[in-house]
Amino acid sequence: MSDWSPKSWQSRPASQQPAYPDQSALLDTAAKLSELPPLVTSWEVESLKEQLAEAARGRRFLLQGGDCAESFDECESNNITGKLKILLQMSLILVHGTKKRVIRVGRFAGQYAKPRSEDNETIDGVTLPAYRGDLVNRIAFTEEDRRPDPTLMLRGYERAALTLNFIRALIDGGFADLHHPEYWDLDFVKHSPHAEEYHRLAQTIGESIRFMETISNTPAGQLNRVDFFTSHEGLHLFYEQAQTRQVPRREGWYNLAAHLPWLGMRTANVGGAHVEYFRGIRNPIGIKLGPSMTPSWLSELLDILHPDDEPGRLTLIHRMGAHGIARHLPALIETVQQSGKTVLWCCDPMHGNTEKTAEGIKTRKFEHILAELEQAFEIHQQMGSYLGGVHFELTGDNVTECTGGARGLNDEDLKRRYKSQVDPRLNYEQALEMAMRIAKRVAEMNGGV
Ligand code: PEP
Ligand code: CO
Repeated sequence: MSDWSPKSWQSRPASQQPAYPDQSALLDTAAKLSELPPLVTSWEVESLKEQLAEAARGRRFLLQGGDCAESFDECESNNITGKLKILLQMSLILVHGTKKRVIRVGRFAGQYAKPRSEDNETIDGVTLPAYRGDLVNRIAFTEEDRRPDPTLMLRGYERAALTLNFIRALIDGGFADLHHPEYWDLDFVKHSPHAEEYHRLAQTIGESIRFMETISNTPAGQLNRVDFFTSHEGLHLFYEQAQTRQVPRREGWYNLAAHLPWLGMRTANVGGAHVEYFRGIRNPIGIKLGPSMTPSWLSELLDILHPDDEPGRLTLIHRMGAHGIARHLPALIETVQQSGKTVLWCCDPMHGNTEKTAEGIKTRKFEHILAELEQAFEIHQQMGSYLGGVHFELTGDNVTECTGGARGLNDEDLKRRYKSQVDPRLNYEQALEMAMRIAKRVAEMNGGV
């Protein structure tokens, strides 16, 4: 790695970067950021890598989820507890269905930068820079709000720290009551044809937990400290570089702004700055794979980003859409099999299923999300590969952004509580129901319900 440094990406073409009007202000802010303490530690990063390695070998399951884009305004307690609660509840359902330990990774504490398909946005003849996430500019459509402002990197870092501080405190304090399905909000279930099954599942989980508590004489929250890890798209390279550190008694460089940074599809070009940056960090990393990913491109990425086949290093997150997965995924699974390397496969059933309603509202259908997941499990199984994770955009709140699910939300409902600034998320009920459907599917695949 003698030819790599945290800033070697700067000599490569970097796509999706903001055009800051004042370059010296950018460099000053990045320098300040690089002096602040890290958000996570190298031993947490290594521990996640070990857990992901087990998942890649079929012995654990990864649940990754959170907002498409976190917003600074939503850095508040209800919102954070809500997300933690839904992820924890989903993970218990998945433990039950998969009979495996579940690794919980949030899209939070740093998911503030977004790739955009256009650099600019035009409304009523006025053209301004596109909104690129709260780390870069503000969403209001004025010249001042849309001007990329480097000090927002500091505000983002601070909010990531506030979020993480609260999450760590909640986890240390024990989430005991959340372990008990009797406290879950299962009201929606009565609207579903699967109502009875869902109740039975919740009841069985409750009984298992009470059984464990009785024999160990310990409340569930303390049974095994629930780990939560953080992830975000490693998009804004000055932000990521500033958080890339060397650690005493360890070799190499760690990105200490997140445990699991991932490389987006739009920035995964070989020879580009993002691939160069990701090549050198010791973290476990993810790569999103969309329909335009080809076997030869993936092969090159495996060579560059996973050269030593280090256990736990690489998670491949495919997002093909319910209508594209059968066409696009098998060749990529073959590519990995031919490479002889081990990766953790994870399905993001959100990003390939985005559509617009007749009125132009961005949404996703519960049934398409589920259909992509079901096909993903099947394709991997048929090819002798293991699907070891799922990746969702979700919130603990009862927003109306995706349609379908037990309550049968429709396009009209989207007007009621649509809060996402970027992509539509599963709400609390839809996310819980999705976990129940996956758990059932996996249990059936493994030959028992
Ligand atoms: C995302 O995860 O929000 C995202 C932009 O995904 P993708 O790069 O897969 O489109
Ligand atoms: Co998104």
